[in-house]
Amino acid sequence: MIPANIIEDLKFRNSIEDVISSYVNLNRSGSNLKGLCPFHSERTPSFTVYPGDGHFYCFGCGAGGDVISFIMRIENLEYVPALEFLAKRAGITLPEDDRQKKDGVTRSRVLEMNLEAARYFRSVLFSPEGASGRAYFEKRQLSGATIKHFGLGYAPDSFDSLKKHLRQKGYTDEEMVAGYLCQRSRKNEKNIYDCFRNRVMFPIIDTAGNVVAFGGRVLDDSVPKYLNSADTPAFKKSRNLFALNFARNHTEDGFILCEGYMDVIALHAAGFENAVATLGTAITPEQARIMKKYTDKVTISYDSDEAGQKAADKALRLLAEVDIDAKVLSIPGAKDPDEYIKTYGAAKFKEVLSGSKSKFDYKVTKILSKYNTDDPNEKARAAREICYGIADIYSNVERDIYIRNVADKLELDPKSIAAEVNGIIKRRNAEKKKTMHSDIVREISGIGNRADPDYAKNVRSSVIERTIIGLLLIRPEYIKLLSGDAPITEEDFSSSLTRRLFKAITEYDKNGGFDFGMLHESFTQEEVSEAEKMAEARRRVRSNGEDVFMEAEKRLREEAEKRRIKESRRGDLQSLIDSKRKKD
Ligand code: GTP
Ligand code: MN
Repeated sequence: MIPANIIEDLKFRNSIEDVISSYVNLNRSGSNLKGLCPFHSERTPSFTVYPGDGHFYCFGCGAGGDVISFIMRIENLEYVPALEFLAKRAGITLPEDDRQKKDGVTRSRVLEMNLEAARYFRSVLFSPEGASGRAYFEKRQLSGATIKHFGLGYAPDSFDSLKKHLRQKGYTDEEMVAGYLCQRSRKNEKNIYDCFRNRVMFPIIDTAGNVVAFGGRVLDDSVPKYLNSADTPAFKKSRNLFALNFARNHTEDGFILCEGYMDVIALHAAGFENAVATLGTAITPEQARIMKKYTDKVTISYDSDEAGQKAADKALRLLAEVDIDAKVLSIPGAKDPDEYIKTYGAAKFKEVLSGSKSKFDYKVTKILSKYNTDDPNEKARAAREICYGIADIYSNVERDIYIRNVADKLELDPKSIAAEVNGIIKRRNAEKKKTMHSDIVREISGIGNRADPDYAKNVRSSVIERTIIGLLLIRPEYIKLLSGDAPITEEDFSSSLTRRLFKAITEYDKNGGFDFGMLHESFTQEEVSEAEKMAEARRRVRSNGEDVFMEAEKRLREEAEKRRIKESRRGDLQSLIDSKRKKD
């Protein structure tokens, strides 16, 4: 656990105004600052920064918290890496966090060790021992500049050269194993050996510039072709993208999403510096969200084989879920973008890129390829399926364009296609109306609040509970008011979220002090934003004196008492029923 005084110091050196200003254009509005929210798209600013108490809140999307919450969201970092980020920014070092350790190995040690390993692989590549690695890169037409740019290297054909090197630098066996650079021998647990042998090495670098992991490729056709680091204390595969460290500064045309390291490297070398790749897995929702932070546009450029196209389908879906306008590139005459560029050149690739199909065109092509449109029955089925796709498009104008386009393609009357589409839309709207009514009921009753799901179970008590938490957050000194004769306890809370918040705040306070940022240790981002919402509600009413807090405390006790009586009555009734049953 990182103690409160360190966090306070970190915040002191990273004023929220300063930090957020480097991401968002802020304008003064009274004593606060306002800007366009970086976490959802909006035209009028609802993102508010309160420099006075170091918090932010967006009225549009509900994102909120302190400077740590902000960095976690915008840089897509976990709690401790976000603290590290801020420490680095302020030029200080954090004390080690015990809980990050895996078998006693810390994230920062793994990062240092990775950097050392990357340097080692690189020096081997340029030594006599690296001749085969150099020959391989030459065969793949990588220039010296590209090799340096990506920090590529070579792991020698040996079971212990990296191990020896790292030992010499003071790293332990445990650290090498936890960092996935070495493995324990199955025959003798005490022995470890290098994971990467006779492979060209691709370091994976995060947006903060840390070497977080490695990918290694064989030089021939042996298997496995690629070996990638498993998750380590410093790395989560599902949350990183290869070359994001470079690509994030070149997103004017969005990202190009590839399957392979070599594709990305070839694209960057050819001037497409917005290319990224997943790390040997299908794209994850987390990766989609990361991309959304930088752009709304992604061109999927996967292998042209069936597996690649299937994967492209999945990527389209995942990207659409985070509101990214994704297109799929088709590269005729090559198996992947790397080969395409080598065969046809960068200019030609650029041409294909601008002609890449929108999600809808891609869908239509796919549907048409499924049916034999010479057969009238199949043609009708294809048309109907396409109409469902058109009905999904929000803009009238766009729908119109597609209707005419499809009518043309299938040689059908645009009027009948339009009628079909309108029919689908009408049916959907009727259904929506039905669910809308129940949505409104949910909204009013608070059932829809995912972060505070118990709210609706006891609204009267929840409102008081949220008042208390909100006050404790904006006036942490009120914690001392809790030491009266009969202080409220966590048992008095009816909602599990407010109960957990109350418990966290009071326990941190007892054990060395509480700071808002510490909530990130045990609450999700959504829950922290919900806590910020409670604080925000108090800021807005401006009557937040000690008397208000004490009154809320009193009323919470009353509510809890009422609940207890009710429950015990229910209990009495139950035992009455039970005893009666026994008699019968
Ligand atoms: P080459 O052009 O053949 O060097 O590779 P590539 O970069 O085009 O990669 P490919 O399309 O063959 O595979 C795409 C990505 O999947 C690679 O970059 C790796 O991340 C991953 N991958 C490929 N083969 C393997 C494997 O055998 N094991 C693992 N774990 N990952 C692999
Ligand atoms: Mn390839």
